[in-house]
Amino acid sequence: MENKEYIYLKNLLEEHLLDFLPEVDHKSITLYESMCYSLSAGGKRIRPVLLLAACDFCGYDIKQALPYACAMEYIQTYSLIHDDLPAMDNDDLRRGMPSNHKVYGDAMAILAGDGLLTSAFEAMNKDMLLYFDDPDKLICRVKASYEISKGAGCRGMVAGQASDIENENKQCSKEMIDYIHLNKTAALIISAIMSGAYLSGADDEKRRDLSIYAECVGLAYQIVDDILDICGDQDELGKKVGVDAKQNKSTYPAIYGLEESRRRATELLENALNIMAPYYDQAEVFTAVAEYLLKQIK
Ligand code: IPE
Ligand code: IPE
Ligand code: MG
Ligand code: MG
Ligand code: MG
Repeated sequence: MENKEYIYLKNLLEEHLLDFLPEVDHKSITLYESMCYSLSAGGKRIRPVLLLAACDFCGYDIKQALPYACAMEYIQTYSLIHDDLPAMDNDDLRRGMPSNHKVYGDAMAILAGDGLLTSAFEAMNKDMLLYFDDPDKLICRVKASYEISKGAGCRGMVAGQASDIENENKQCSKEMIDYIHLNKTAALIISAIMSGAYLSGADDEKRRDLSIYAECVGLAYQIVDDILDICGDQDELGKKVGVDAKQNKSTYPAIYGLEESRRRATELLENALNIMAPYYDQAEVFTAVAEYLLKQIK
């Protein structure tokens, strides 16, 4: 992503990414190292950047949102560590490096994921403890954290991952593929953006526009990922390609074909751009993300 504001937010996030992890006992150093290995391996950081961008868009101080943005990236990273495990997608390469379990073993990779997930909630709760004498700010934080827990859990990303696994080697329905994609991927993207809006105490109109944008980009994100698994480049993506077909995954291209998948993703991304168009420069990062995704499938 070449947008200057995107890069600024990504750099800010990366500068503080390890700040909100709990201090661990030296005896747990392997666990801590395996958590940091995947966190520090890189990644586009789209979800935390969108969270910070939503705060900025709503006129809030982005630095105050850092514990939530970092929590978002802990959850994203945990989801990838578990997604790569042999019992799930069995992928050896992630973010251009050997997958966590390839370095630390399956058991430690499971635990690193558990550690990152719980650290996300510890980071948010620790921040909330600072606001007991400021109920308005506290309420915004509770709403943000609730939004993130809904997106991450068993009516969000985890639900989508479960249905993804259950629908391997099946011709799933169009309704089911939308259910999978909306949950395994869109849910976290939606919760990133909406938690930024809640933290900022955004007005109804901005919240509505952000949620339409988030739903469009969230679904498009996984359709683009499915397309790149067929047409993308391993070195650019930092992960293996062709893995969906090998595992007979239910994907958009498998069900609709490549051309219709491109058309659908393009339509969603154009909707996302249209909803943000009236905000001009104020919505720069949101526009840049949608345009980046469009470019990926051209
Ligand atoms: C990968 O997400 C998993 C999907 C939901 C497609 P990203 O493509 O955002 O991966 P990172 O975080 O940049 O590594
Ligand atoms: C995974 O979808 C979504 C997650 C919640 C991690 P994929 O399995 O297609 O993601 P990649 O292609 O391995 O990044
Ligand atoms: Mg998967
Ligand atoms: Mg995978
Ligand atoms: Mg994929």
